[in-house]
Amino acid sequence: MLATRALTWRIGEVAIVDGVHLDLAPGEFLGVIGPNGAGKTSLFNLITGLRPPTAGQVLLDGEDVTALPPHRRARRGLGRTFQSSSVFGSLTVRENVRLAVQAHRGGSMKLWRRAAADRGVAAAADAALDRVGLHHRGTALAGTLAHGEKRKLEIALLLAGEPRVMLLDEPMAGVSAEDVPELVAVIRSLTGDSGRSVLMVEHHMDVILELADRIAVMHHGALLACDTPETVMADATVQEAYLGEAL
Ligand SMILES: Nc1ncnc2c1ncn2[C@@H]1O[C@H](COP(=O)(O)OP(=O)(O)OP(=O)(O)O)[C@@H](O)[C@H]1O
Ligand SMILES: [Mg+2]
Repeated sequence: MLATRALTWRIGEVAIVDGVHLDLAPGEFLGVIGPNGAGKTSLFNLITGLRPPTAGQVLLDGEDVTALPPHRRARRGLGRTFQSSSVFGSLTVRENVRLAVQAHRGGSMKLWRRAAADRGVAAAADAALDRVGLHHRGTALAGTLAHGEKRKLEIALLLAGEPRVMLLDEPMAGVSAEDVPELVAVIRSLTGDSGRSVLMVEHHMDVILELADRIAVMHHGALLACDTPETVMADATVQEAYLGEAL
């Protein structure tokens, strides 16, 4: 569904992302781990087209999309959340999701939208809110949400784009421990149907181990390992990359 081939991003002599080969199958959940500064977010930026790679390719459904801008990749089913929150705080939760649905469907700026189209947008927005368990918070200002709720809203915004491949960059960041299980359940439900694939960066190892079919380990921009959780956890080079810390 998604693949990278020798994907590389250099700044001068420094390889921030260094020859990464990844394959994501339909319905697969691939966790991405690695120390701070390993290049995980940069890898996401290359995959989504936010930055052009210095070398290598990004393939969607086997097709080379390396030259396509982010919105064209999104239209082909590639969606992402950002490590730092990208929510309009002064709009309500439901307004945020409706805007995302309209942006995805296009023609959102037309003054004389047909009422039926409007209802379609509203229904899709409500479905996305339902999906993440935020329906009861629809009228709250997004800026007033707790961290855990905000993360759920970000996932609802992502769902509004009807992605087939979802890239989640630290979806648990800032979420208090008691809210983690609920968010894990929401994220797990994303892959349950329709063969949707997920690529997720996360520092919480317990969350990665709970959700991921395979784990990719990044270190200094390169892919150190990509295998089943058991194999990756037992890998000596992976242990070393974390300076001997138990993962
Ligand atoms: N635009 C940029 N210009 C220069 N250096 C950058 C840029 N973006 C990232 N870097 C550097 O590239 C390296 C990888 O950064 P990146 O944000 O991809 O790491 P990360 O694995 O996502 O880290 P974290 O776990 O802290 O989120 C870091 O050393 C960072 O300072
Ligand atoms: Mg990052």
